[in-house]
Amino acid sequence: MSRLQLHDLQLARGGQTVLEHLDGRFTDGAITALIGANGTGKSTLIAAIMGMLAPVAGSVECRVPLERCAWLPQQLALDLTFPMSVEELIMTGTWPSHGALKGYCAAHYRRGREIMARLGISHLAHRPLGELSGGQRQRALLGRTLMQEAELLLLDEPFANVDIETVDVLMEVLRDMARRGTTIIVVIHDMEQLARLADDVLLLSSGHGRWVSPDALLDHHGGGVPRAPRLPLTFPDASHAGTA
Ligand SMILES: Nc1ncnc2c1ncn2[C@@H]1O[C@H](COP(=O)(O)OP(=O)(O)OP(=O)(O)O)[C@@H](O)[C@H]1O
Ligand SMILES: [Mg+2]
Repeated sequence: MSRLQLHDLQLARGGQTVLEHLDGRFTDGAITALIGANGTGKSTLIAAIMGMLAPVAGSVECRVPLERCAWLPQQLALDLTFPMSVEELIMTGTWPSHGALKGYCAAHYRRGREIMARLGISHLAHRPLGELSGGQRQRALLGRTLMQEAELLLLDEPFANVDIETVDVLMEVLRDMARRGTTIIVVIHDMEQLARLADDVLLLSSGHGRWVSPDALLDHHGGGVPRAPRLPLTFPDASHAGTA
């Protein structure tokens, strides 16, 4: 049973249909790349999955409790003038399940320090968010989702304007989260990044979605990008699986 399923979903923005007849099942503990040209509805679908946009028809069936859902938006609505340090941001990952007013225990702080070390941002622990580079901020935000122990993680173009080293760190952490069972959906435009990361692909185009295999897609785009060995691919719904 998949934690996240789409049932004949139709979504609209400003009175215009953006996507329709969208079906499928996201594989638990897999990384699904959400791809498509600008304006095809990737961010719109993410908003619907997060419950921030009501469907025109059909439904999103999500079995993950809200406190275990994490979302990194494309354009960050983070108030960078807010006086919060990297460590403080990461600690807020405990809020959805633990509450904002209870304070933190020693185990929370220990875990926060482990997460910062893993993401290579220990030296930035006390740096205000407004003084971070884009890549440092992405590391800190991913750290917050690790603190949250997210079961469903939605990332809207997390690698945009991020250097290679940071992409490597973020990808390694994401792959590890998926291995531990987190269902991850990531909007990607770069085929090489897709080759390295994606187990499944949902391609949006002309108002519709199509599940495609990463290998078929990469062959279609000329292939040649070495892929790390992975578990066999599983399709969210065989009746909707196709090739690029
Ligand atoms: N708030 C809004 N009001 C009206 N139309 C919108 C709104 N937000 C998005 N749209 C329209 O909905 C469509 C889908 O937009 P969306 O942001 O989901 O695309 P996207 O695939 O994420 O694109 P990108 O790759 O550029 O991020 C576009 O035609 C866009 O112009
Ligand atoms: Mg978008």
